[in-house]
Amino acid sequence: MTILVTGGLGYIGSHTVVELLNNNFDVVIVDDLSNTEKFILKNIETIAGKKPIFYPFDLKRKELLHQVFEAHQIDGCINFAAFKAVGESQEKPIDYYENNLFSLINILQEFKTRNISNFIFSSSCTVYGQADEQPINENTPLKTPESSYGKTKQMGEEILKDFANSHQRKVSLLRYFNPIGAHPSSLLGELPLGIPNNLVPYVTQTAAGIREKLNIWGNDYPTPDGTAIRDYIYVVDLAKAHVKALQKLINEKSETLIDIYNLGAGKGSSVLEVVEAFELANNINVPYQICERRAGDITVAYADATKAEKELDWKAETSLEEALRTTWEWQKYLETRQN
Ligand code: WQD
Repeated sequence: MTILVTGGLGYIGSHTVVELLNNNFDVVIVDDLSNTEKFILKNIETIAGKKPIFYPFDLKRKELLHQVFEAHQIDGCINFAAFKAVGESQEKPIDYYENNLFSLINILQEFKTRNISNFIFSSSCTVYGQADEQPINENTPLKTPESSYGKTKQMGEEILKDFANSHQRKVSLLRYFNPIGAHPSSLLGELPLGIPNNLVPYVTQTAAGIREKLNIWGNDYPTPDGTAIRDYIYVVDLAKAHVKALQKLINEKSETLIDIYNLGAGKGSSVLEVVEAFELANNINVPYQICERRAGDITVAYADATKAEKELDWKAETSLEEALRTTWEWQKYLETRQN
């Protein structure tokens, strides 16, 4: 079977392409390289021993996307391609709505006219906002996210529910918590362009001396050590969940299915705990300073991942320390590439 993976050279996308190839799927990647680099394609081939087909274009180019569907018998799609910087989305909301939603709709137009099913959407725990109770399960009421980034995720989910119900199709909405880490081969990992928005790449670049010190955004939260709590899930565990979710859609007999899964490790870790775990795992110091809270941040979010464990026969197995060890190894690989 052939799976279209949009954003397939990106962070989670590239790790998922490897797992798809390992499970004997054929893969067609469309990626505009706006948030990654071309060497990732070669590294995917090195790891998997197989070469996905790659088209370098922006999914808003519907005429180019149409040619891909003409050239390949597409049996499903995993849609990663999206802008994803929370802060940036506040400065450029229209760019975020245009990019994230037009891309999605262009793919669904092709799915609609060609009667294709099996669509997996990269969603996010940000659709829960600050949930009233922890851990967060799939029945936890959604709140309107503050960021335009988060709103595109929530709107994307609604678009897919309507698509599934109106056209009798099977979709799976995967709500990621906080993906971290790099591939055990150190050939794939997070490639933040510019100053990292997310915690773990910033910690890593601080340890590498690229950043002078980590800014910890607030230590006055109502948490045990005052810093905010998140659920950090190892990226390869997350990638494996995508294959399981896809296989469930493919094997589903009924025409219409809307799956929703929280994909997290099911454990909350504070910012300070992440810093300490990174230092311990890699025997290295990470200088930091406490700063004001970051606008829009929530206090705590961690997953109740039992629905995915039961229905997908999947569980995030990798420890925070092990994930943070892979991140440091990836950083050292990047430095050897540059030299
Ligand atoms: C984690 C914690 C920060 C950086 C967002 C999106 C989510 C997903 C991941 C896209 C927070 C603190 C961070 C720093 C810090 N989307 N922090 N200093 O905000 O939980 O989730 O990114 O990939 O959909 O909502 O992730 O890593 O930015 O922050 O103190 O330099 O680390 O305040 O408490 P977040 P994050």
